Amino acid sequence: MKKLKVMTVFGTRPEAIKMAPLVIELEKAQDIESLVCITAQHREMLDMVMNLFNIKADYDLNIMQANQTLCGITTRAIDGLCKVFEESKPDVVLVHGDTTTTFCGSIAAFYNHIKVGHVEAGLRTYDKYSPFPEEINRCLTGTVANYHFAPTLNNKNNLLNEKKLGDIFVTGNTVIDAIKYTVKDDYKFKNETLKNLDFSKRTVLVTAHRRENLGEPLENICKAILSVINDTPDIQAVYPVHLNPKVRDTVFKILGNHSRIFLIDPLDVDELHNLMSRCYMVMTDSGGLQEEAPSMGKPVLVLRTETERPEAVTAGTVKMAGCEYNNIYKLAKELLDNPESYKAMAHAVNPYGDGKASERIVQALRYIYKLTDKAPEEFEI
Ligand code: UD1
Ligand code: UDP
Repeated sequence: MKKLKVMTVFGTRPEAIKMAPLVIELEKAQDIESLVCITAQHREMLDMVMNLFNIKADYDLNIMQANQTLCGITTRAIDGLCKVFEESKPDVVLVHGDTTTTFCGSIAAFYNHIKVGHVEAGLRTYDKYSPFPEEINRCLTGTVANYHFAPTLNNKNNLLNEKKLGDIFVTGNTVIDAIKYTVKDDYKFKNETLKNLDFSKRTVLVTAHRRENLGEPLENICKAILSVINDTPDIQAVYPVHLNPKVRDTVFKILGNHSRIFLIDPLDVDELHNLMSRCYMVMTDSGGLQEEAPSMGKPVLVLRTETERPEAVTAGTVKMAGCEYNNIYKLAKELLDNPESYKAMAHAVNPYGDGKASERIVQALRYIYKLTDKAPEEFEI
């Protein structure tokens, strides 16, 4: 029997982390031929994930350039992907989330009459400039996709309200599957700073690098964090800083050379997850961290004005802190100084998944292509 040829396409760190458990699951399926194509929109930060999960790319477009522009990434990715699709002729292309690689993967597959499956479908803010350009990337991908793998019921309802064409499956988020591979009680850190960190001190994990936060918002975020650390002598912060030079300039300028602020290079995801599981709270503008932290019972202050992830806000483990100095400072101090406020947020809930999202996606593909009669059971919160 001819195997179903599934090509997984991704390019940045978060896509790789969230696609890795799915690639592993696809490779286990006897009736599927699994191929991986990376655009390498990120280089070092992508390779870290590839190495950790031991995933080999069948195609590597190697498109990253320093200070790359959206137009540059888009043209290089579409051109390269079209050639790969023409040569390899997959039955289905799987893309993830909302990066430029995601949009390029979907449109290049469409141009080649190849079916598209969208993993992490249906997240929306309904503000086309926030997150920029991700909101438009995911809307366009949703329009092109034949199959939508929505993490939550709320994501599915967004797609239904938009009357998107194609089949929708509620699967949970594959990032929760990834945590199964990484978090360990007896984990030993490899990073020198983390090896020597005194975890008896309350530790705040910080990440911030979003495109719409570059410039003044990121400066405000850093200044607020600096004041919080200065005004709370018994805490420390660890900030793995994204490799984008525009991010590094601001962060090192404001937060560099402080004895209780550890600015380090991006971490392998097992290091990051185990750091998170040992920290007191998280301050971040990342999407992925907002999904991971609730499952570890860690309160999150979201350094953004809008969210496409209302589930954790409803569950009470995440608060929107925005990008203004005063509000970030106030909310962080409240969590640090008021044990009741902390307790109210620090409960482990898993609104995003149960660790079986990848299994459901593979089962859905096998069901769509009549390799099984059994449809996947939907993820329910
Ligand atoms: C991209 C995605 C964003 C995602 C984020 C995850 C788009 C438009 N943006 O944003 O949705 O949330 O990745 O991190 O798709 N760099 C390196 N090495 C690396 C990675 C990046 O040096 O391994 C530097 C390069 O100078 C690069 C710059 O970072 O030009 C920006 O990378 P880019 O992918 O364009 O944007 P991100 O902000 O990372
Ligand atoms: N992450 C990581 N190393 C780091 C910082 C983050 O592995 O130093 C992981 C994190 O656990 C999450 C993902 O990267 O799974 C989030 O990526 P990012 O913040 O770049 O993108 P976003 O989630 O905002 O799309």
